[in-house]
Amino acid sequence: MSSRYKVLLVIFLIGTTLVVGSFPFLPVPEEPAGILVFLGRFHPVLLHFPIVLILLTLIFEGLSVYQKWSPDNKIKLPNVAPLVGPLLLVSAITTLITVIGGYLLFRSGEYQGELVSQHLWGGVLLIIALNSAAFFYWWPGAKKSNKIQAPYQGFLFLAGALVIITSHIGGTITHGQDFLTEHMPSLKAMKPAPVEQKEPAELLVFQDLIMPIIEDKCQSCHNQYKTKGGLIMTSFSSLMKGGDSEKPMLVPSQPADSELFHRITLPDDHDDKMPPPEKKQLNQEEVDLIKWWIDQGADDNMLLGSSPPDTITQLLENYLPRLFQSERLKMRQEQELESLAKELAELGDETGLVIELDPENRGFFTISMQMPPASITNHTVTELTPYAPLFTKISLPGADINDDALFEIGKMKNLKNLYLPKTCVTGEGLAYLKDLDQLESINLSNSELNNQGVLNLIHLPSVEEVYVWGAETDTLVLKALRTFLPEVKILEEEGAYF
Ligand code: HEC
Repeated sequence: MSSRYKVLLVIFLIGTTLVVGSFPFLPVPEEPAGILVFLGRFHPVLLHFPIVLILLTLIFEGLSVYQKWSPDNKIKLPNVAPLVGPLLLVSAITTLITVIGGYLLFRSGEYQGELVSQHLWGGVLLIIALNSAAFFYWWPGAKKSNKIQAPYQGFLFLAGALVIITSHIGGTITHGQDFLTEHMPSLKAMKPAPVEQKEPAELLVFQDLIMPIIEDKCQSCHNQYKTKGGLIMTSFSSLMKGGDSEKPMLVPSQPADSELFHRITLPDDHDDKMPPPEKKQLNQEEVDLIKWWIDQGADDNMLLGSSPPDTITQLLENYLPRLFQSERLKMRQEQELESLAKELAELGDETGLVIELDPENRGFFTISMQMPPASITNHTVTELTPYAPLFTKISLPGADINDDALFEIGKMKNLKNLYLPKTCVTGEGLAYLKDLDQLESINLSNSELNNQGVLNLIHLPSVEEVYVWGAETDTLVLKALRTFLPEVKILEEEGAYF
């Protein structure tokens, strides 16, 4: 590197170290600019580059030291020493971009607490270590001909350790599913146009006409979370993969050989009939439409075209108005759900909880602790009561609550999972849960659950498993209870949180 570039490099290293070093001391604004939050959200994607590059630099440095110490080494390797410099530089630049991204995210105010500030400091120290390594690597005279270059190698090693610690802390700071795209301005615009706004000839037979039938009558059992028969029907490609029977779902022009069609046309009393008899069935129009589409080749790109046969035109006269109406209804429900989700997320922020849509139960929500946990009391649980029927899971490990909170929880009539380990619940309040006929599992490990309290389990109609590890119950009482409630698993295990 010519000396002019070296001077520029040193100015760059010192400048960026000072800027990044000031991050922890700058005030966080009340209202951060949306675009900066958006850029910050790329932090979780970017961070993979510095992790890989820094570790790679370390490995190559190790190899080149090995080659210098034993020039006549037996393992023949190409000379890697010339790669170390460029790798170091690229590491420093990608780390800088990543740390700036992380800092923008921090300024958004969405992330607070001990772990977050440790993570920020980790990033800042990492920049200092890495820039110092780069400085000593290129500083004239710092790299003598001797085989150990203490300052440079020391800082590089430190950077390696810091990147591991910092990324571990970062991983512990939990994040939601649509983390990256939530603030992305263009996502909403990417949603497909409503079917109603298309010309009939332009309608895609599968996507626009058949998929709504599948969504309505099949997807409740055949989706990523509930995969009955091993079959997922959320897209054409997942449908084509088929299910456990490995029979072809769709055979072009052969409805009778297509398992999908075969299943929907079986007699109602047949065991294999789809949807199962107790569920909403397909009507004749829907079956005819699917048959016609398979007859035509079961192509997912097929357009309805301007002259479908009369039978199909007639059929659509009934079907389309219903489809449009249900689409409008669905869109309205979606908007309502979106605003409800926002309202509940805000309630979560105010009360110190995370309240999110339940990915497994559409339209319902889950409640969990923030990371790091805020102080949660009986009063916090009371604040959730106006929304009680919306919750399917509630997880409050270590919360400062007792049996009084169970009175409020007893109003959450769609609750399936209740996790209250490490709380002051004695079990006295379990009787309040007697109307929760969806409740499947309860975790009271390490709580103050006692012998008298645990007996209240006999009032709970649908519970399948209870975790009582580390509670104050006696083995003998649990044994008696197991005999009395043979269908309930009473487990002396810590059990899962969620
Ligand atoms: C209430 C739940 C439920 C609904 C709704 C439902 N299915 Fe199923 N489906 C099942 C179960 C359970 C199985 C596995 C048992 C079996 O093969 O019959 C299954 C299996 C299948 C299979 C066989 C997969 C394989 O390769 O083994 C097909 C095909 C299928 N369903 C199609 C449909 C279609 C089409 C619809 C909508 C019209 C539908 N299902 C709606 C529960 C459901």
